[in-house]
Amino acid sequence: MNKNKRSMAIVYFGKTGNTKKAAKLMKEIKNVKLYNIKSLNLPKPIWLFLSLLPPLIWKFINIPIHIEPSFDICKYDIIAIGFPKWGFMTPPISSFIAKYDLSNVSLLPFMTYGGWDYERFYNKICNMLEKNGGKIIGRLLIKRKLLQDSEQVKQLILKSVRK
Ligand SMILES: Cc1cc2nc3c(=O)[nH]c(=O)nc-3n(C[C@H](O)[C@H](O)[C@H](O)COP(=O)(O)O)c2cc1C
Repeated sequence: MNKNKRSMAIVYFGKTGNTKKAAKLMKEIKNVKLYNIKSLNLPKPIWLFLSLLPPLIWKFINIPIHIEPSFDICKYDIIAIGFPKWGFMTPPISSFIAKYDLSNVSLLPFMTYGGWDYERFYNKICNMLEKNGGKIIGRLLIKRKLLQDSEQVKQLILKSVRK
């Protein structure tokens, strides 16, 4: 195996298709394997309720998740991790962070959002990823409206990794 070639995967969670769309555009560019985090099949209002609970709760409760297809984090040293901005927390993402040891993994967190209080939320998730050992190598925030223009999103993706 070529030791210099770093292997990358895209892992995402989403409910209404926006993060999936961003993840698929990234896959087109990077030509890497795509994994989907699945969680409880709850209606939107319940997720909304859960996302508005005090964020501290998610240090103690992990919503069940599984990843499709079967995911072995040890195979990858770069992971683009995608999620939507939900209230104060997107519980399946806090579960992912709690479940996986991210030591020595370079991470590109990418987030889709509607348009309110997104920077602070994104920074909070980045902090959680770093606390769990991950190294953040780029930033990518995608307003859901922008997803109507795939070319613009592709440009953002190309610019997202820090030089
Ligand atoms: C439960 C819930 C909570 C949300 N909370 C926020 C929010 O606080 N701020 C925001 O900008 N968008 C919020 N949104 C909008 C989503 O972040 C946005 O639509 C995102 O692109 C959804 O991604 P998905 O289609 O992959 O699920 C929320 C959506 C849901 C379903």
